[in-house]
Amino acid sequence: MEKLGKELEFISRIKRDGSGTKMVKKKLIELIHGDSLQALKGYADNHFDIAIVDPPYGIGESSNDNKIRSKLGKSKDYGCKNWDDNAPEKEYFIELKRVSKNQIIWGANHFIENIPSANSSCWIVWNKENGENDFADCELAYCSFKSAVRKIDLRWHGMLQHDMKNKEFRIHPTQKPVALYKWILDRYTSEGDLILDTHLGSGSIAIACHYMKRKLIGYEIDKEYYDAACKRFKEQTMQQVLW
Ligand SMILES: C[S@@+](CC[C@H](N)C(=O)[O-])C[C@H]1O[C@@H](n2cnc3c(N)ncnc32)[C@H](O)[C@@H]1O
Repeated sequence: MEKLGKELEFISRIKRDGSGTKMVKKKLIELIHGDSLQALKGYADNHFDIAIVDPPYGIGESSNDNKIRSKLGKSKDYGCKNWDDNAPEKEYFIELKRVSKNQIIWGANHFIENIPSANSSCWIVWNKENGENDFADCELAYCSFKSAVRKIDLRWHGMLQHDMKNKEFRIHPTQKPVALYKWILDRYTSEGDLILDTHLGSGSIAIACHYMKRKLIGYEIDKEYYDAACKRFKEQTMQQVLW
């Protein structure tokens, strides 16, 4: 497995202790090229504070068909891949629940039968303000918390985005906005929490974790996506944080 360059894996902190000032290097963001299904088996129970994951929904969004559905003109062509043909098996969700204290699972309405103890009072509804087309109006995420359903309105439809002055460049067919991940991190995690993302895609969660000082281990199996996510992460988090 290949990991992101060390400069980006570590963020330096100045720590003062009895012996004076010491430079301590602390791992914050770790992006790994590899199969998360295999990797999960290597983690101890409750290793992660929370798993925030966006696995394949099993609805064929990575195939060529998705580029002809928008009515807003020609959609970006991300090429044809088959990773969205099937959602992960039950075994993945059992392992995910074992290694993490809490879980947020995007797309769970597509494979709810595979999630053990899936009863929950707490789902996230992301209203994508999609306009009229055959894409879903909202995306749903299962949450293991005991709190209530929450909704976020965040426009995300082709060239139309919530913040048109600071548009996010899209590199992945099912990329989620960094702003969505910041909203989740703000409500469901605390500074310093260790987060797992088993299906990194474009790496939006890594950028959000960097700016919100959360630790992240993220996996992406596709080398092309992995390289693009690392490049995007580097470009968007250039400045070193010292504190
Ligand atoms: C729904 S997309 C994630 C999109 C991501 N949330 C974003 O904002 O860009 C799922 C990703 O999981 C990757 N993937 C599929 N199976 C995997 C596996 N076993 N291990 C790691 N990544 C996998 C796919 O290549 C795809 O990029």
